[in-house]
Amino acid sequence: MTENKKSATLNVHGETYELPIFSPTAGPDVIDIRKLYSNAGVFTYDPGFTSTASCDSTITYIDGDKGELLHRGYPIDQLASKSHFLEVCYLMLYGELPNASDLEEFETTITRHTMLHEQMQYFYRGFRRDAHPMAIMVGVVGAMSAFYHDSTDIHDPRQREIASHRLIAKMPTIAAWAYKYHTGQPFVYPRNDLDYASNFLRMCFSVPAEEYEVNPILSRAMDRIFTLHADHEQNASTSTVRLASSSGANPFACIAAGIACLWGPAHGGANQACLEMLEEIGSVDRIPEYIARAKDKDDPFRLMGFGHRVYKNFDPRATVMKQSADEVLDLLGIENNPKLQVAKELEREALEDPYFAEKKLFPNVDFYSGIILEAMGFPTSMFTPIFALSRTVGWVSQWKEMIADPQNKIGRPRQLYLGETERDYVDIEKR
Ligand code: CMC
Repeated sequence: MTENKKSATLNVHGETYELPIFSPTAGPDVIDIRKLYSNAGVFTYDPGFTSTASCDSTITYIDGDKGELLHRGYPIDQLASKSHFLEVCYLMLYGELPNASDLEEFETTITRHTMLHEQMQYFYRGFRRDAHPMAIMVGVVGAMSAFYHDSTDIHDPRQREIASHRLIAKMPTIAAWAYKYHTGQPFVYPRNDLDYASNFLRMCFSVPAEEYEVNPILSRAMDRIFTLHADHEQNASTSTVRLASSSGANPFACIAAGIACLWGPAHGGANQACLEMLEEIGSVDRIPEYIARAKDKDDPFRLMGFGHRVYKNFDPRATVMKQSADEVLDLLGIENNPKLQVAKELEREALEDPYFAEKKLFPNVDFYSGIILEAMGFPTSMFTPIFALSRTVGWVSQWKEMIADPQNKIGRPRQLYLGETERDYVDIEKR
């Protein structure tokens, strides 16, 4: 962050204030308003943070107009085609691509942390069988704070590192067990000879009664889904993790907060909502009705899997995800799936509609990820847990970055108060 010679001039109530301007390595300049309140006695107002940089970071960069997503400078399409998820995890956590021995050591570390404390099974058993797997994940990840006391001291860098490894390693087991619990099948333990994605598929789909062969194309597609969701700058769930951890809360509690935020349909819940929408539409002849509803200001309905706060031309993750969807559907010989037909036609009709073009609404990553996950055999309720699993490395990297930052202080937004001013309490018999 370099301070420009230029500054912004703000006139408030007749007084002029000079505000420093900082230049990032990429992206728009930022105006430093940290001293604004103490100097001028006013707040800024930005609900939804549409114009506010909440932190500085070196992890992920997005250019929404260009449709660019970089992790530590590397474009997402290169990472998705040339790298693999655990290498991307290393890159996120440590800032550089690993050499062969660093990667091997990192993969071994993650592999050796995949089992859950056996007692944690009882947490699952306390849930109803029809509990949403995200509800289970919020609970179980939060409960990790009660099991891994030796990695909750946020002031110890070594403990922070162990917590990061544990979260990345155990999340596939936690998500797979949420699924197994839901289906009533026995929990499947992780296996150290499998790669990260294959291990997850096996923990979800194998049963003790017969061996499960992981299809390498499906495992590659799964790994790519993890990579494409690994991090996305200061989105709602990442900002939640940062805000939760700014109070000094332990990492497991903070990541549980991130999972809770991700659950919502405007964020990670969109992939489930998208598939449910495709199911509700049902057939291609009903698409115009739904497009009309999405355009109707008096109807709250939105096309799920369309639009993005930052991307205003295309979502680069969606481009890769679409290719992956084609590969998986081809492998599985799925062509006549009604939801897929609705998805393809909906995409075509929406992209040709001036409403979506004018508002710069394009299919986002969630439009295609749900189609692949369904083809792989996952129920829609597992889509968001898989997003949470993938995003854990992003949350953890941003959390580590924040805790190590000497400027870190508790997040405490202010407000534009529009309520009553002071008034006297009225006794109940007089109201
Ligand atoms: N269908 C119909 N209209 C839409 C849609 C949509 N999916 N998305 C935005 N619009 C309209 C919206 O009504 C508004 O119109 P107007 O200016 O006339 O009031 C305009 O486009 C701008 O919308 P906004 O809500 O102000 O934009 P935002 O940046 O706050 O919202 C969004 C971004 C992703 C929440 C929104 O596009 C949306 O709700 N999309 C559907 C949910 C979805 O797919 N979410 C996944 C996002 S990608 C994965 C992730 O990051 O978690």
